[in-house]
Amino acid sequence: MLLRSQESNRLQHEYSMNRRFASSIDKNHIGQNLTFIGWLEDFRDMGKIGFISVRDMTGNFQGVLTGELLSGLREIPRQSVIVVNGTIQDTRAENFQVEVRVEKVELLSRAINPLPIDPTGRVKSSLDNRLDSRALDLRNFKISNIFRTRSYVLHLIRKFLYSKMFVEVNTPKIIGTATEGGADLFGFEYFSKKAFLAQSPQLYKEQLTLGLERVFEISSYFRAEPSHTVRHLSEFVSVDLEAAFLQYGDIMDIVQDLIISTINDLYVHYDKQMAYFENKQDIMVDKIPRITYEKCLEDLKSLGEKIEFGDDLSDPALKKLGEIYSKFYFIIDWPTKLKPFYILEHDKKSEFSRSFDLQYGYLEIVSGGTREHDSERLKNKLLEKGLNPKSFSDHLQTFEWGMPPHSGCGLGFDRFIMILTNSTNIREVVLYPRDTERLSP
Ligand code: 4AD
Ligand code: MG
Repeated sequence: MLLRSQESNRLQHEYSMNRRFASSIDKNHIGQNLTFIGWLEDFRDMGKIGFISVRDMTGNFQGVLTGELLSGLREIPRQSVIVVNGTIQDTRAENFQVEVRVEKVELLSRAINPLPIDPTGRVKSSLDNRLDSRALDLRNFKISNIFRTRSYVLHLIRKFLYSKMFVEVNTPKIIGTATEGGADLFGFEYFSKKAFLAQSPQLYKEQLTLGLERVFEISSYFRAEPSHTVRHLSEFVSVDLEAAFLQYGDIMDIVQDLIISTINDLYVHYDKQMAYFENKQDIMVDKIPRITYEKCLEDLKSLGEKIEFGDDLSDPALKKLGEIYSKFYFIIDWPTKLKPFYILEHDKKSEFSRSFDLQYGYLEIVSGGTREHDSERLKNKLLEKGLNPKSFSDHLQTFEWGMPPHSGCGLGFDRFIMILTNSTNIREVVLYPRDTERLSP
């Protein structure tokens, strides 16, 4: 029966102490009286008997009810929170090992009807509508799995980087000088000064190699990207690394190991979640090829796409390259003029830089390189790029304190998750995406 408040208090105490999860019951529990809490996903009313499907964070269970309980259930809208107590019994249902013969039901929290979206996914909603009701959208297992996977991958990345002797750091996101140059900066009033939201931790992470040698940071960064694409947001998460005494080739080794070990781990320990993503693209790799920018130009030429040396690889060009190199591949040794001021060029061929991008098909996942560590040369680089060395004086002075040669990279975490979860739009893998149009919720 549906309980009144006095009894309900007792049941609330009982469930908080003894609550069982949907996925934890099997034939060994037959005959036991157990309590569950969850959301009423489905209710099939056959008149004399009814079946409910209730979802918690581990999955769904089926409950069977009759009599007074059945009429009580008719008053409860789908997606409301209920406490269910009952005895476990065998079932004829295909998808369940056992079911709960329901003895008590309590309504804990009522959901409105109709809801703005159908979290079961049976009635399809547009991505925009789903994002408007994101908290509710997460009741869909496929969607919540994206965010569980995201969380697990963060854990794997941290574990991997600790094993390589990196220290996790937190640098300011309110900054006084642009880190990456360029126009895509968000500026705002900071007391009586002008401040910016950090585009990357670039300058700080380089400085920190001086005291900590190997650092990494996982954080949100901000870019006023006016383009409306499926891979750009104004706020995105990046995994940045920086290491003293390593070269860009060593950083590519680290990135390669990180990608391969993450994917392998997912398929071993997260295979059930991965199955949801139907990742038929087979993202497993055992080595990531390194292709020079020059070779890419040759490849593109043979495909009828002519790009002059020094020009960036356009979207159509990257799409064509993505057809040749379908999975992960590095594009290395980019023209110096295409890369930021902090990237070191090659000794004898200064038009080429010691840089790389990691691509997945047409999608850029990582940018990195060996850095300039000489303060005079760095000053000249700033001038060449039209930047004022005076604005970088805090940064430049650290280069006179025994700055080690160093290299690093930034991995676009949301884009990496897109690949792992087989998502075609970055907004699918970010809880509350920010772009030119979207500022809420
Ligand atoms: O290529 P980016 O701009 O490189 C840097 O920020 C350097 N400081 C990294 C370094 O250490 N040299 O950004 C790094 C990665 C990109 O490859 C991309 O995956 C991601 O961050 N990214 C974005 N992701 C989503 N939305 C945006 N607007 C992004 N901008 C960059
Ligand atoms: Mg880049």
